Amino acid sequence: MSTTPIRLGVVGTGYVGLTTGACFAHLGHRVVCGDIDQRKVDLLNQGHIPIVEAGLEQIVNDARSADRLSFVFGAEAAAADADIVFLCVPTPQGDDGSADLSYIEQAAHQIAPVLKPGAVVVNKSTVPVGSTIEVEQALQRPDVYVVSNPEFLREGTAVTDFLHPDRVVIGSADRGAAERVAELYAGIETQIHVTDPASAETIKYAANGFLAMKISFVNAVAAMCEAVGADVGAVVDGIGSDPRIGTQFLQPGPGWGGSCFPKDSRALVKIAEEHGYNFTMMRGVIDVNDEQLERMVHKIVRASHRSDHDLTGITVGALGLTFKAGTDDLRESPAMAIIGVLRAAGATVRAFDPTTVGELSPHQSEVLSGIELVDDPLDIADGADVMVLFTEWPEFAKLDLNGLAARAGAGTTLVDTRNLLDPTLVRESGLNYDGVGRS
Ligand code: UDX
Repeated sequence: MSTTPIRLGVVGTGYVGLTTGACFAHLGHRVVCGDIDQRKVDLLNQGHIPIVEAGLEQIVNDARSADRLSFVFGAEAAAADADIVFLCVPTPQGDDGSADLSYIEQAAHQIAPVLKPGAVVVNKSTVPVGSTIEVEQALQRPDVYVVSNPEFLREGTAVTDFLHPDRVVIGSADRGAAERVAELYAGIETQIHVTDPASAETIKYAANGFLAMKISFVNAVAAMCEAVGADVGAVVDGIGSDPRIGTQFLQPGPGWGGSCFPKDSRALVKIAEEHGYNFTMMRGVIDVNDEQLERMVHKIVRASHRSDHDLTGITVGALGLTFKAGTDDLRESPAMAIIGVLRAAGATVRAFDPTTVGELSPHQSEVLSGIELVDDPLDIADGADVMVLFTEWPEFAKLDLNGLAARAGAGTTLVDTRNLLDPTLVRESGLNYDGVGRS
């Protein structure tokens, strides 16, 4: 626990803002989180967490009981009494691939009149290089400091990532402001990198770009394995024991998705382009990801015994919809993108996901409309011409394969886009198996 509690304001209660606020409160600071969604603020004040995020509910409610965490409507109310204000608002992708900074600018304009003299404003959202200066300009408050402190939180493990980070990066032109932000992390054992704002902002994009590159690399190697009759699992084991390579983030799949990699990889290309650098490697990483999606569609079409992309009359049973396991986030989910292509070609899709059982949120109802949802994973098999495992939910590894085979019919193919299942066991059940890069 930190010995010197600091007053913090957090603007935005998405998974980054909520995790940041709750974790700082857990570390002993006094945190007020503001959001423009009154319904969400009410829910949070009643102890309801609007997202699936392991451990978050517990620390939010512990901090609320200890009177260290509260939720208010709007950015001003969150910032008014704060010594340090975190901007954790979305930076969605703009029409041209660049990050849309309108939420950040709006938040800066709203908090500018209420900030205490000497306050520090921290950009936690992933923002293009140069945004620290842009926030300074939007604030028009020479008496406050603006610092970059990018987050490296994975959805599903955000709380653990926050409390046990590999590193904390702080970018500031002012040493004292950087030290004040560093002090917030006093209760955490980690390395703190203090650098200039442009480097801190670049670190965030470079980290996500590199991780996306690793996944695209292994997906390309998986395609090569299929062509030459090699097994990608054996290849990753073989290369991963070289510590310079390692095995992390080399799990083949349907392509990377989620709220960060797709938008950040495109933004990286765009930022480089705007500064006169053609980041061809990153363009390739994105192209390979698009190809991976097409490869998955091709596998499914082939398994449904159609020679073209007319899937009229075909029923696809889908296991998983979220972009990865451990989250209810459907943003840029490869499953959703592939299902979109299959449905556009005429297929009916019946799907199970552990986060879409029971009552759906309005957002889920909207984005999942047209997909037949079932509450038991085995139900996806009824009348299925092909089944596809999209998301690596651990429970899918324990599925009753004989039950699936009995209901879909022997000879139906199960396309395993995550290489989660044992091909031998799937085949023993009477189903055909097709994984990614598995010989
Ligand atoms: C990512 C970064 O990891 C995190 O540091 C950053 O702050 C936000 O973006 P997140 O989007 O939650 O986090 O997901 P992550 O676990 O990184 O996975 C991203 C995508 O890559 C998912 O679609 C996942 O399924 C895919 N993936 C990941 C693979 O296909 N193979 C892998 O080996 C790892």
